[in-house]
Amino acid sequence: MLNRTTGIAVTAGVGLTLSTALLSTLSACGHDRHRVHAAADRTRQPSSARPTTRAPTRAAPSRAVDCAVARCVALTFDDGPGRHTERLLDLLRPTRARVTFFVVGRQVRPNAAVVRRIVAEGHEIGNHTWSHARLPGLSEEAIRAEIDRTQDAVHEAAGVRPRVFRPPYAVTDARVGRAAGLPQVMWSVDPMDWRPSGPGRRERMVDEIVRDTRPGDIVLLHDVHGPTVSAAPELVTRLRRKGYELVTVSDLFRGVPLRPGAPYRHRRAEEP
Ligand code: NI
Repeated sequence: MLNRTTGIAVTAGVGLTLSTALLSTLSACGHDRHRVHAAADRTRQPSSARPTTRAPTRAAPSRAVDCAVARCVALTFDDGPGRHTERLLDLLRPTRARVTFFVVGRQVRPNAAVVRRIVAEGHEIGNHTWSHARLPGLSEEAIRAEIDRTQDAVHEAAGVRPRVFRPPYAVTDARVGRAAGLPQVMWSVDPMDWRPSGPGRRERMVDEIVRDTRPGDIVLLHDVHGPTVSAAPELVTRLRRKGYELVTVSDLFRGVPLRPGAPYRHRRAEEP
């Protein structure tokens, strides 16, 4: 049931022709427009809402992993921070797995403490635009604003600036890439975790991910989805049992220069 999209070699051929493929890709994020709005509405404004600029937060030490050699996989969680994000951090902490959160900018300030915690616990933050916007329909100025406001909000909250971005709804094109000015990180494994939960659904989802993941993959998940968060510890355990290192996107691509605007779906020199 996995929607394994065609991989793009990271060493060559990362061309502009991807845009058509992306536009035609089943939009795994497309379902969640209303949920994102709802999540944003649900977030509580802290008593002291005044933004403060903070010094860079020290990340927890992580083991150096060379993903050119090791079996690495990057779990990515989109559309937060939301009401399940702290629980996910709680569940991940004892595993010492590192993941990447593609955050929606307007949800950062109301959840600034969570964003700081993400960074402090060694995870990575990616940019998922300010308003979960459908970027190809926007002017270049508006695209830049979607990205830049989010960069500033993350920096204000946690003292770091995201180095990668993920276009919402998987829709993008070369113009979006140029305007955004950050590497576009897509995914190679999509368990469609937003589908309604039913009996055994969580177990099947973990089974599918573990069965279909290959070294270098990027897995698309959503931390605004409770069952996904609940499944995270088992997913980590079972991937490790198959010899995988759970790494952030930047660690996955360490040693591979990521070009601004270029799309990346996984780290593999070429598809078999
Ligand atoms: Ni999304």
